[in-house]
Amino acid sequence: LAQGALNVLGNAYKRDSFTNLPPSITSKLNANLYDIPSHPIYLLRTLIQSHFSRFNAHTASSMGFSPIVTPHDNFDVLAFPKNHPGRATSDSYYLNEAHMLRTHTSVHQVPLFSKPDTDRYLFSADVYRRDEIDASHYPVFHQMEGGCVWDLDKKDALKDAAAEVEEMERALALENIIIEDIPHLSLTNPKQDTHDPAHATLMARHLKLSLNGLILKLFGEGAKNGGEPLRVRWIEAYFPFTSPSFEVEVFFRGKWLEILGSGVVQQSILDTSNVPSKMGWAFGLGLERIAMVLFSIPDIRLFWSQDPRFLAQFEAGSMNTTFKPYSKYPSSIKDVSFWVPKGEVIHENDFCDTIRDVAGDFVEDVKQIDNFVHPKTGQTSLCFRVNYRSMDRSLTNAETNAYQEQVKSQLKDKFGVEVR
Ligand code: PHE
Repeated sequence: LAQGALNVLGNAYKRDSFTNLPPSITSKLNANLYDIPSHPIYLLRTLIQSHFSRFNAHTASSMGFSPIVTPHDNFDVLAFPKNHPGRATSDSYYLNEAHMLRTHTSVHQVPLFSKPDTDRYLFSADVYRRDEIDASHYPVFHQMEGGCVWDLDKKDALKDAAAEVEEMERALALENIIIEDIPHLSLTNPKQDTHDPAHATLMARHLKLSLNGLILKLFGEGAKNGGEPLRVRWIEAYFPFTSPSFEVEVFFRGKWLEILGSGVVQQSILDTSNVPSKMGWAFGLGLERIAMVLFSIPDIRLFWSQDPRFLAQFEAGSMNTTFKPYSKYPSSIKDVSFWVPKGEVIHENDFCDTIRDVAGDFVEDVKQIDNFVHPKTGQTSLCFRVNYRSMDRSLTNAETNAYQEQVKSQLKDKFGVEVR
């Protein structure tokens, strides 16, 4: 299809069958929203950093880490199996077979753990995933990751960790919080072969207590002021790069929210980082998801808005904003139906990227409403319902019709579909 090299952030990448990075994404690569002092992503990042005051705080920009990484670093180093769905071109953005956009902050664990004197870090960055379009999904979002390790060759390392565990346990016991815990280790959530079970248990306890403290900081204001106790529950999880692994949920405004993933770091990662005598834990969380809840931001596209009616509601240093939506402009709902050429597969994420390339942030929601195979010809027909809405003004019918026409012609050019 498209010829010539792909130019991204000043480098040329040879296109191949993996190439699927659209201009709508390339244009987001240097936004660094986490560096804008009154932006909600910045406010949440710096709040978490102030809570974990013993951790060195870094960002992609402060470290000079590019969002363009290799699948080797994004997946292989972190022990993802070869057939993991995240590797598929339907789920991730590839410049070509050898280069992709990072899908999570964990891709930088090795350089961070390799830094001399860095036993505790926080790291925030933009990450990229191909996904559906709705109010809580956007192909670029922000994660924060934390790592905390001890050098077991140092004489008092484990004693220090145990003392901290006791101190955190004492402090948490005084708080208005109910924690549903699960075993630190189990048959289905085991320690690693090379780990002493007592050490793995200590690390898991330190992890849970540290993150319970963070959750109390983020969501516990009501509970601290004499309201209902804050409820937190721990859940067994699986990540290729931690074992045991945990997720944690918090009950907030009537709903259980999944907050973060975490676990004891795979020893192979610390070996690769040239710190084989260290052991510890890591966590990762999505900043948008938490910011949406804390600030009552109803649509993830707003984080990218340049509208002062959004940005001016947030204030450097303050978490006290409850976002007041300015008037919701009318939406315009349009369907597109087409026949998929035989032998071609069109993933919903392919359709979503096409829509974003044409209409950008004017797309609020996309739903696949039909998928059927013609009984005689065997051809597949797909139908998508697109909800267009600007957050800043009314779109005209002429505009949305023009977008529909462009979408149809791009679908014809890119995938050879026959519009119905
Ligand atoms: N990288 C994981 C994700 O994107 C989160 C995670 C980070 C889990 C660190 C465990 C440890 O979902």
